[in-house]
Amino acid sequence: MIMPISYQRKLDGKSNAHLITFSDGKDYVVKCLQQGFEKSLPNEWVGYCLGRYLGLPIPFARIVEIPREFSSQIPEFTGLCESQFQFASQYVPDCLNGHEVSTVLKITNNRDLAGIIVFDYWLQNRDRTRKNVLFYKESVNSWKLWAIDHAEIFGSYDWLQADIEKLPARLLKSATHQQLARFIEDENQFYEQLEIIQTTPILLMEEIVELIPDDWNVTKDEKKAMVTALVTRRHKVLPKLIERFIKQRYRPLHMKGKEKD
Ligand SMILES: Nc1ncnc2c1ncn2[C@@H]1O[C@H](COP(=O)(O)OP(=O)(O)OP(=O)(O)O)[C@@H](O)[C@H]1O
Ligand SMILES: [Mg+2]
Repeated sequence: MIMPISYQRKLDGKSNAHLITFSDGKDYVVKCLQQGFEKSLPNEWVGYCLGRYLGLPIPFARIVEIPREFSSQIPEFTGLCESQFQFASQYVPDCLNGHEVSTVLKITNNRDLAGIIVFDYWLQNRDRTRKNVLFYKESVNSWKLWAIDHAEIFGSYDWLQADIEKLPARLLKSATHQQLARFIEDENQFYEQLEIIQTTPILLMEEIVELIPDDWNVTKDEKKAMVTALVTRRHKVLPKLIERFIKQRYRPLHMKGKEKD
């Protein structure tokens, strides 16, 4: 397992994430278990694993351990990071978020965008804000997009089992989805992603939730409920939501004509 080597800085946002250099020479955005945000880390882990399986542009991540000898020397950590394991997402340098980027004429990985939207509906990610997409400049006005921050999938960062047994089946209000949808060239891409999601092995989902560290305090029943929610939504909820998204959000954008893009 990689070890933390040097503390860089605290990052913006309610998760109180920290940028730390690890023994593999790479910088990671580390999130710790916080009171009131009990499901942030399990959500990050499940969102990350499923997103990577689907081939979405989510930064490489892993579960790490921050030993007390390291955290006790960092004042910013006092009272934080008490659990043995943390979630660490590899830092993608030199990015702008959706608020900071001004002119985007081209998204080089635009084939991934429908996938991100379908993923957000599958997992009920209510936090696809402009801060949670990162743009890396590849050439003038041409950007690669990364999706980050899956702490609020399953509807929230502090869900209880009863909540995920009745997740909403409504269209999400996301200006970012609107922004991404403008770059999607073919609505069949939504259905291609739906098919991949519907054929994702249940065994994989079970393995992913099984790997949630014990000290993140997710009960056996909650883990089971996560898998049940995923399996139920992909068949009973997702197809209808995608159809509605295409009709109510995607098509109007594309019918308005390119001059308004
Ligand atoms: N892999 C990454 N590469 C580069 N920057 C990152 C990465 N992950 C997170 N960040 C930066 O750290 C900030 C906080 O991370 P993140 O959005 O995951 O947590 P948060 O505190 O839950 O945010 P929010 O305010 O949306 O709740 C992000 O807004 C982004 O600027
Ligand atoms: Mg965020």
